[in-house]
Amino acid sequence: MRWEEVSALVDDRVTDGWFSVHRRAFTDAAIFDLEMRHIFEGGWVFLGMASQVPNPHDYLTTTVGRVPIVVMRDGEGKLDAFVNACTHKGALICHKRTGSGRLHVCRYHSWSFDSAGQSVGVKGLRDGAYSDAFMQTDRNLSRLPAFADYRGFLFGSLVPTCPIEEHLGEARHLLDVAADQGEDGLELVPGEVVFTYDGNWKMQLENCADAYHFTSTHPSYLQLIEKRRREEKKNVVKSVWGENSAWSEMTEGITGGTYGFDQGHVLNWQVIPLSDTVPLAERAELLAERYGAARRDWMVNMRNMTIFPNLQVAENASSQLRIIRPLSAGKTEMRTFCIAPKGESDGARRMRIRNYEDFFNPTGMATPDDTVCYADCQDGHANALQPWILGYARGMESVQDGPDQFADVLGMKPDRSQPCGSQLCDETLFHSYYRAWLSRLKVGMERSA
Ligand code: FES
Ligand SMILES: [Fe+2]
Repeated sequence: MRWEEVSALVDDRVTDGWFSVHRRAFTDAAIFDLEMRHIFEGGWVFLGMASQVPNPHDYLTTTVGRVPIVVMRDGEGKLDAFVNACTHKGALICHKRTGSGRLHVCRYHSWSFDSAGQSVGVKGLRDGAYSDAFMQTDRNLSRLPAFADYRGFLFGSLVPTCPIEEHLGEARHLLDVAADQGEDGLELVPGEVVFTYDGNWKMQLENCADAYHFTSTHPSYLQLIEKRRREEKKNVVKSVWGENSAWSEMTEGITGGTYGFDQGHVLNWQVIPLSDTVPLAERAELLAERYGAARRDWMVNMRNMTIFPNLQVAENASSQLRIIRPLSAGKTEMRTFCIAPKGESDGARRMRIRNYEDFFNPTGMATPDDTVCYADCQDGHANALQPWILGYARGMESVQDGPDQFADVLGMKPDRSQPCGSQLCDETLFHSYYRAWLSRLKVGMERSA
């Protein structure tokens, strides 16, 4: 596929009031192949949390594109990432999601590796009549050329690339806001949920930042919140949503907004008042003392963040970390966890988990609503009579370049901002995704040309 064909799938003419993405970007197997090679296997992707591998010799397994990966902590406690494939013939070395082991013995021919990825044994080496050339060859696990730990968020790349700070850019402030909530950063609550949906991975990328769908896709959730509020029953899940703004003097009709960043990261956010239904309430004063009230209020606000291309941290009804794993143009795997500040009280943790179960997971009230809509869209993307998607237009006339007054609180300089009321439901933040999508494809295609 030629670059001209790929770049023609995004019609980016915002100065003419127009932005659209061609449906083929969601359905074409050749595009999917390019995405795997040049986006997922051609630059930084999220791997997991350092808190999943707290002790020497701990490991976690994941994938980067189509490549199996193991992140290991060696005996000295140093983290590193490797291709999870035996150098003999390629069998997986670690099979569990997370585990611990000083020594990993391949189950095929018993070659063994330590927790630093070093080859420490070849079965029957002395009797193997191996050549000098073989004896001198590197048999260690393949180390990823780029690996980084940013505030406990682990990233890796299968190709040499820019420093992680450059990839995260100004969106790193959003990871800081999340990480600063805990005395000692964040952790994943034990337990994970893995599910698939019948749709392209970019449906999930968009939906996390899609305020427009909320009232129409999730009426049963909203009705239940209303019912609980009316009945004021004890022992039911208390929703975090409320009507008053803790930032009333700054907001003047603004109830939230969006940001987009050059590297394809985005945020949509909404004011959430500080009340005792928010798990962070117990630390509110302490956080205000440490960071100032305005920055503390950012921690309380709803924040749906995407770090392109595969990490989402959604802090809304509760707090969820998601890893997006594309399986094909029309199938995606989601791996989701409840994420929480380390050291919060049992009461706050309980509140967080109850809200989590209420809203998220295939058994919760929101996730299934979303995934059936993704599948619907995937079917509808077959519509060659209307090839251009019209979902990138809301907010076109009010988006502004650079930061707004709320980003200033964090000292953050997004590429574009959209402070707005609850009815706008900006769609222009998706433009950042597709600009980064094109730019990563371009770099990769040029590199492999
Ligand atoms: S594939 Fe691992 S020892 Fe043969
Ligand atoms: Fe949703």
